[in-house]
Amino acid sequence: MPPRPDLPPHPLPADKDLVLKVIPMPADVNANGDIFGGWVMAQVDLAGSVLPSRLGPRMVTVAVNEFIFKQPVRVGDILSFYSSVQRVGRTSVTVDVEVYAERFHDQGRFVKVTEALLTYVAIDSEGKPQALPENAQIAAWRQAIARNTAPKA
Ligand SMILES: CC(C)(COP(=O)(O)OP(=O)(O)OC[C@H]1O[C@@H](n2cnc3c(N)ncnc32)[C@H](O)[C@@H]1OP(=O)(O)O)[C@@H](O)C(=O)NCCC(=O)NCCS
Repeated sequence: MPPRPDLPPHPLPADKDLVLKVIPMPADVNANGDIFGGWVMAQVDLAGSVLPSRLGPRMVTVAVNEFIFKQPVRVGDILSFYSSVQRVGRTSVTVDVEVYAERFHDQGRFVKVTEALLTYVAIDSEGKPQALPENAQIAAWRQAIARNTAPKA
């Protein structure tokens, strides 16, 4: 697809990681012909698990704290999932996930279709919550969160 100089700069988030790209297929539609919301939720859960899984311990989803379907998703949309860590707790990590669609016949223009907030918990071999490891990744997330929540001068 050639670049689209006619379009304004896309609104893709520069402060989040691109964690997943996927194209929904006809098998994923609901009775209206749009993509089934449960399919989108499953992809968001997978995308949300990517950053927490960098820590090492096994991580499970404990909560979908917020989930908003802002625009319909259609067959053939090229979906991009962006994520960032919003909170680091003792045993849990909360991430946001934003999903942008490029319509198949309008590539280069991005529409935000979904946003969500999910929490993942580190578990031990018995499935019980365990403290997050204090490693460089956690330290980097804590710094980024502190930067983002500091009052602006
Ligand atoms: C995840 C699980 C191990 C947590 O066990 P638990 O005894 O309820 O754990 P706790 O109450 O100690 O909470 C553990 C962490 O989860 C957080 N948490 C629990 N419920 C939460 C919620 N609704 N929203 C956000 N965070 C939540 C707690 O704040 C705590 O985090 P912190 O230690 O960073 O403060 C257990 O609930 C479980 O196995 N759930 C099923 C997981 C699963 O199968 N997921 C896939 C779904 S198909």
